[in-house]
Amino acid sequence: VKVFVPRDSAALAVGADEVAEALRHECQCRGLKVELVRNGSRGLFWLETLVEVQTPQGRIAYGPVEAADVPGLLDAGLLQGGEHPLRQGVTEQIPFLALQERLTFRRVGVIDPLSLADYEAHEGWAGLRRALSLDGSAIIQEMLHSGLRGRGGAAFPAGIKWKTVREAQSAQKYVVCNADEGDSGTYSDRMTMEGDPFMLIEGMTIAALAVGATRGYIYIRSEYPHAIATMKEAIARATAAGFLGDSVCGSGRAFHLEVRKAAGSYVCGEETAMLESIEGKRGVVRAKPPLPALSGLFGQPTVINNVITFASAPIILARGAQAYRDFGVGRSHGTLPFQLAGNIKHGGLVEKAFGLTLRELLYGFGGGTASGRPIKAVQVGGPLGAYVPESQWDVPLDYEAYAAMGAVVGHGGIVVHDDTADLSQLARYAMEFCAIESCGKCTPCRIGSTRGVEVIDRIRFNRNNDQNRAEQVILLRDLCDTMTHGSLCAMGGMTPFPVLSALNHYPQDFGLAAPDQA
Ligand code: NAI
Ligand code: SF4
Repeated sequence: VKVFVPRDSAALAVGADEVAEALRHECQCRGLKVELVRNGSRGLFWLETLVEVQTPQGRIAYGPVEAADVPGLLDAGLLQGGEHPLRQGVTEQIPFLALQERLTFRRVGVIDPLSLADYEAHEGWAGLRRALSLDGSAIIQEMLHSGLRGRGGAAFPAGIKWKTVREAQSAQKYVVCNADEGDSGTYSDRMTMEGDPFMLIEGMTIAALAVGATRGYIYIRSEYPHAIATMKEAIARATAAGFLGDSVCGSGRAFHLEVRKAAGSYVCGEETAMLESIEGKRGVVRAKPPLPALSGLFGQPTVINNVITFASAPIILARGAQAYRDFGVGRSHGTLPFQLAGNIKHGGLVEKAFGLTLRELLYGFGGGTASGRPIKAVQVGGPLGAYVPESQWDVPLDYEAYAAMGAVVGHGGIVVHDDTADLSQLARYAMEFCAIESCGKCTPCRIGSTRGVEVIDRIRFNRNNDQNRAEQVILLRDLCDTMTHGSLCAMGGMTPFPVLSALNHYPQDFGLAAPDQA
């Protein structure tokens, strides 16, 4: 009997290894034969450790399982899919999963992440094989037509970036994956690398073929030791099987891939600071232009994309650009893996086509807050994203609609706060975060963020002096304006998003009149 116990960090954090060991031990004592598969996570975090059993009816899920539950589960006939209070039914029919549109994540949690046979059996390498039958410009045409935009947060069309690199003249080109997933509340890159690493390798190889690059690097944050280990092992296996190396799939075209471990700095997720870091220097932002597409790693033309962007390429090539493009709304084509975090009952990964609303995510998938209290504010798009108030929860999640209301979809991270949150404190936190993480290269960010903390403190702790508070609010808005327009990169440039959204939508938390009275 096949039994699946995830090896994803989220599952390990709540004792998945202990559950796996208890299963192994208990089955051995009882003389039961089981094949234990360590899969990725299905992304239903409130049910981790989610144990699944292969039965004639499909995979049956049990969760959240702790090591101490194992004997009781076996007594109840776990291996036959027997009844038990932790039984969740057929995994694919759990509403949280059944309501999703999983394209990029279709294999994550399903397969053994490091099994080449499993990968192959689930549409693996189909995109690469098609790419090998096309010339570089035809691959790029597919990417352009798919409408795929950079999933790291900036949403720049991937096909245009690849085209720029392809057309650049150089003997050496590079492909670099930005896996320095630093946004708070986000984990889709990590889940991909731990749950389906060959997909990222396949996507990066397709990019290399498209632009004519022979070397690639995956820059993974040091806080992700399991992702680093899984990617290294996957690269070794893919190389041994001929999918990487001097002759990709016997084509005579070379692509060599390496993992680079980051050093724990948020700003190294900014693409030019990341390049400096890979080159062995201190992670300081470079001025643009020149764009990395023309002068990137070691001064050579470089494709830099986020994990999910590269991971989307295989399915686009395998199923055709139109099939991908048909998902989504407006100019936001395809799907995004939204990541529910913070004070939410059902936290986890929801891959859906663009166009659903925050309210559907928060209640349809998330089930409201974990605390049971009303939701007050939702930060969308990481620590540099805006706080979105309830009046905007019905706006479709697409890049343009969010930009129009002064917010960002970003990398799809969603952090929920209940009505006990003080938004002036969260605004202060945003400025403090910027002050701590600033690379120091430009003044609006380096000095502005520190002054921002002070100004917000004067507003927060000067509640008896209305005139002074009003002056400080003007100063804060002025400072945000300078940071938005004068910062060299998104770190300083986007910090005003959380600060101003907090001030504009929750003025009462700053001791100001409520929005309807303002
Ligand atoms: P950007 O808008 O400056 O650039 C986007 C990308 O397009 C870059 O790779 C740039 O080199 C490329 N590009 C722009 N014009 C081009 C052209 N004409 N030809 C070829 N390539 C071109 O944005 P940036 O600063 O790279 O990223 C900011 C975003 O990063 C923010 O929106 C934020 O959401 C996101 N972010 C994500 C984090 C994460 O953990 N995933 C962490 C922090 C920020
Ligand atoms: Fe560095 Fe901040 Fe300027 Fe970016 S905005 S270059 S992080 S000082």
